Amino acid sequence: MPDTSTLRLPADAAGIARAADLLRDGKLVAFPTETVYGLGADARDDAAVAAIYEAKGRPSFNPLIVHVPSIEHAKELVHWSGTAENIAQAFWPGPLTLVLPIREDAGISDRVTAGLSTLAVRLPAAPLARDLLTAFGGPLAGPSANRSGRISPTTADHVLSSLDGRIAAVLDGGPCPVGLESTILGLAGRPTLLRPGGISAEQLSEALGHPVMRRQEREAISAPGQTASHYAPRARMRLNAAEWREGEARLGFGDVDCDLNLSPAGDLDEAASNLFAHLHQLDAAGAEVIAVAPIPHVGAGIAINDRLSRAAAPR
Ligand code: TXA
Ligand code: MG
Repeated sequence: MPDTSTLRLPADAAGIARAADLLRDGKLVAFPTETVYGLGADARDDAAVAAIYEAKGRPSFNPLIVHVPSIEHAKELVHWSGTAENIAQAFWPGPLTLVLPIREDAGISDRVTAGLSTLAVRLPAAPLARDLLTAFGGPLAGPSANRSGRISPTTADHVLSSLDGRIAAVLDGGPCPVGLESTILGLAGRPTLLRPGGISAEQLSEALGHPVMRRQEREAISAPGQTASHYAPRARMRLNAAEWREGEARLGFGDVDCDLNLSPAGDLDEAASNLFAHLHQLDAAGAEVIAVAPIPHVGAGIAINDRLSRAAAPR
């Protein structure tokens, strides 16, 4: 068992400087982005990247996203394209990850890509993430800062509840506003939506000038983390609950009587930003079954339903 506990660093200049020092020293530091908290490590440092897999209990075949401080920095890591430029101009910084062919001279640890010839890159919008990336001055590998297969963290407390003692520090920037992980767009071939998230398929299609392809469920897994069971709370999940049953923890949406409500006003963006925090809370309260009201399958509802169906999948 790890014998040191994790530092909670404040969201100020001193906290950022300390976090950057720890990262330069090969340590793991969790940091807030606009989507969820990421578990940062120097993406060029083999040992630091190996420590991410170890701390998360993540299978070594599941590659990591690399966060960069600027578009210029992304271009040093991957073979950029006209499409990548259009999309990055439209949505970066923001909750979108681009998968592109990795450059031979990228200098990224092989463990980051898990043997793939592509690299997932992301320029986050959250000011604290940007400040940390600028202070660190290099690429940060950053999966969500949770134990593998569990619910992603949207607060520093969530991070500590699963990784305390396993990582050097967490930079505490309060709750993440988007609340769901970034959309992943594959640009190594025809533009393909690999994971729904904060930027919708419609927004991508509009910027591309043609409909984005959807990844087929049966296709060889091209975003390897997209296995059926993921984001799992300890409790069992019952989705599309039209009525409540005795003894269940009731997660509502809209104008309903329930234990916790994703959005009393029926706002899907608000529901997305509350989803993981509410699941964490009901789980921590010891619920055996979490019943979830139907979520409309439009806009942010598509990403919400994606995460809910993975949380409910057989394990
Ligand atoms: O919002 C986010 O994307 C957060 C924040 C911290 O940036 N990060 C995040 O990372 O969600 P993670 O590791 O939990 O999910 C990354 C997903 C995984 O499903 C992984 O398999 C996929 O990205 N991925 C990484 N590299 C890939 C690649 N080269 N090709 C296809 N999928 C890739
Ligand atoms: Mg994750």
